[in-house]
Amino acid sequence: MRVLGVETSCDETAVAVYSGAAGLEVHRVYTQTDLHEIWGGVVPELASRDHVRRLLPMVRSVLAEGGLAPTDLDGVAYTAGPGLIGALLVGALAGRSLAYAWGLPAVGVHHLEGHLLAPRLEADPPPFPYLALLVSGGHTMLVDVEGVGRYRVLGESLDDAAGEAFDKTAKLLGLSYPGGAKLAALAEQGRPGVHRFPRPMLDRPGFDFSFSGLKTAALLALKAAGDAPGAHADLARGFEEAIVETLATKAGRALAATGRKVLVVAGGVGANRRLRARLTEVAAAHGARTSYPRAEFCTDNAAMIALAGHERLAAGEHVGLEVLARARWPLSELAPPGAA
Ligand code: KG4
Ligand code: ZN
Repeated sequence: MRVLGVETSCDETAVAVYSGAAGLEVHRVYTQTDLHEIWGGVVPELASRDHVRRLLPMVRSVLAEGGLAPTDLDGVAYTAGPGLIGALLVGALAGRSLAYAWGLPAVGVHHLEGHLLAPRLEADPPPFPYLALLVSGGHTMLVDVEGVGRYRVLGESLDDAAGEAFDKTAKLLGLSYPGGAKLAALAEQGRPGVHRFPRPMLDRPGFDFSFSGLKTAALLALKAAGDAPGAHADLARGFEEAIVETLATKAGRALAATGRKVLVVAGGVGANRRLRARLTEVAAAHGARTSYPRAEFCTDNAAMIALAGHERLAAGEHVGLEVLARARWPLSELAPPGAA
């Protein structure tokens, strides 16, 4: 089966073709960062309009790049949620309509299932089961992945996602959106231990996270430190240490609780160097190893949507003519392929 995947849940427009026989054949991502940067965050309406402008030309160019015609396809998979509702609707309507016009089945894919299965885009994927730490601008989750469609959410952020916390604190430090990587670069020049920010929820059992208090702590520390030389760098370092320690400790506890031997890390925050180093140490302490999908498969992309859609279409699952788009869609509501 060869599946066209479409992703428009946030600020990336992406299209890909995945086939059961050949794996990933083509994939393209356009990121709207420049469009949103001046506003300090993603503006939903601007995101939707840009998806409208770019999606169909991108479908055309992806098919051309793969030397494919619509008749070479067996199905269409589009991201149905969770995400920004207007942005989702653009991809869902386009995906559903193309499938209708081409006489193909369509399936609405859960965005997080895409992230959880992204390691399978690689030639030598980690075997099931594995523990996944998903850390992006929109999500922070620890998930036990037993197989395709069999996900147990162990814990998640009760408020801000890790990337969101990075971005908000970066903004306080005067760094432009998205500031996570810029804050991490600044932290390299900071001294460890100058600031000791709270490690949210580490004193509580369970695997949930809470990061919204950290930005308040950062704001207070910033006011107290004033314009002292190196103050921003020290603060960035302290903030990064708090987030990294919290994520690594909870991931370690989840490895201990599940006995999993592979920790898959996905999402943009997974690019953080210090986080990677700590997770490697923590995993080793539990007799486990870390596994990172390629950077382009860690952040939002359509390759993972085409792959997840392929698994579901291949199991005989498809939706009727309705257009599925859900801003909120708990992962726990997702059934294994073909079961729905
Ligand atoms: O997965 P991703 O591209 O998707 C969205 O949620 O859109 O993640 C983006 C997030 C942003 O919050 C960004 O600031 C953060 O990942 N990020 C980082 C680093 N690189 C990207 N956070 C900390 N350290 C980094 N090196
Ligand atoms: Zn995502």
